[in-house]
Amino acid sequence: MDTLMRHFKQGDWIFHEGDEGECAYIVEHGSVAIVLERADGHITLATYGEGTLFGEMAIIDQKPRSAGAIALKDCSLRAITRAQLNHRLERADPILKICIQVILKHLRKTLSQIHSPEPTKVSSHVAHLNETHHVLDSKDQHLTQVVNPIVDVVQPTEQAVQSMAETIGQAMSEANPLMATDVFSEAIKTLHLEQELQVALTERQLKLYYQPIVRLSDGLIVGFEALMRWIHPEKGMISPAVFIPIAERSGQIVEMTYWALREASSQLKQFQNVQKGYWGTQYAPLFMSVNFSGRDFLDGRFLDEIQHALQSQDLPPKSLKLEITESMLMLSPEEVQRVLGICQSYGASVAIDDFGTGYSSLSYLQSMPADTLKIDQSFVRTLHKNDRHLALVESILHLAGRLGMLTVAEGVETAEDVDTLRKLGCDLAQGYYYARPMPTEQVLAWMEKQTEKFPKI
Ligand code: CMP
Ligand code: MG
Repeated sequence: MDTLMRHFKQGDWIFHEGDEGECAYIVEHGSVAIVLERADGHITLATYGEGTLFGEMAIIDQKPRSAGAIALKDCSLRAITRAQLNHRLERADPILKICIQVILKHLRKTLSQIHSPEPTKVSSHVAHLNETHHVLDSKDQHLTQVVNPIVDVVQPTEQAVQSMAETIGQAMSEANPLMATDVFSEAIKTLHLEQELQVALTERQLKLYYQPIVRLSDGLIVGFEALMRWIHPEKGMISPAVFIPIAERSGQIVEMTYWALREASSQLKQFQNVQKGYWGTQYAPLFMSVNFSGRDFLDGRFLDEIQHALQSQDLPPKSLKLEITESMLMLSPEEVQRVLGICQSYGASVAIDDFGTGYSSLSYLQSMPADTLKIDQSFVRTLHKNDRHLALVESILHLAGRLGMLTVAEGVETAEDVDTLRKLGCDLAQGYYYARPMPTEQVLAWMEKQTEKFPKI
């Protein structure tokens, strides 16, 4: 038996205004009227037919039912439990959550303003619902007053965000004074940073720093990872750990990645020219790793941008490396696999970033078109403190070797790390032991210094 199906006869009350809410409903058969129960009659706010959802408000804001619901015909309703809704809400973007609370607050306020109906505005003094239900239509002035503020809030424009922010504060503090301080101020900070990030993008406050990646056997420079830095005119350096997640949630990350891709590719060309000037063609051309996020793959311009970066700079094959994290592989493995395959056919190389921290199954490793594996710094940093990490790194290196993948250890900080990783057969390394991420001028000076160890030709 389907315990979540509820049946009601025509004229039955499903719930009354003011009741405690225990679930929302989807109308599977029949129809339902939403009514305000007033001393002098019912005001019908809406009728809901098959496929519609109602009764969600009391579940989301945990307040009494904002209106009553009555079966207009015999009905079958599917109950959506509090747990089902809450589970989704908990995972929603915090700003979206706050917006929902604000919308509900407005709606409840508006509903509470519909007191006893004025004679010309709604039908009143009625005995039976079937004869009396009256749906307010858009010609009804009163309804227009009711609906407009709601619509304004439901479809916030950019300008509305600011004024919404003010309303949010008030709504939150009324709803829950504790939330008002923490969640609210966090949410406002995020909205603010999002707007500042937009300015940063147009005013070129974002910079790329380049961290050298070297051959472990002898420390020879083989490539770089391009890392984004935000140098804010007043706040100074803002950590990527702060602004990247914000950009990912807001979608701004896509433009940022394309900017980084173009910038890093043209910078790579310059580094490769310096390399040729110092050492001719005796070493493989330097590569440049660029980080991508899951959102980038969903963008329609992605493949064109990759192709353009490779062609416009005439980059040698495999010298542009796309870094993707394990969690991105899992978003939609087949689609990612297809897109990465095309990137490789264009001449790009693909690295799996932060390996060991995600939850991907090892089977992805053999099916993904990736040629490089980057071992996460959390394993490397504890290599000497934790035997289990040593065992893990050893196994990862062995596995990557068998799959013919190039291995890069991240977060290499000591001579001891270098020694161990070398013995374990890791190919490349990146970390403070060799160099920090640096702006272009410093990279050029650092490369020059390399010529002491690797003489110019
Ligand atoms: P809830 O408050 O749980 O119970 C009554 C339901 O009626 C409410 O959730 C909404 O689903 C619905 N409701 C409330 N106000 C309106 C309105 N103005 N128009 C349409 N439906 C409404
Ligand atoms: Mg990376």
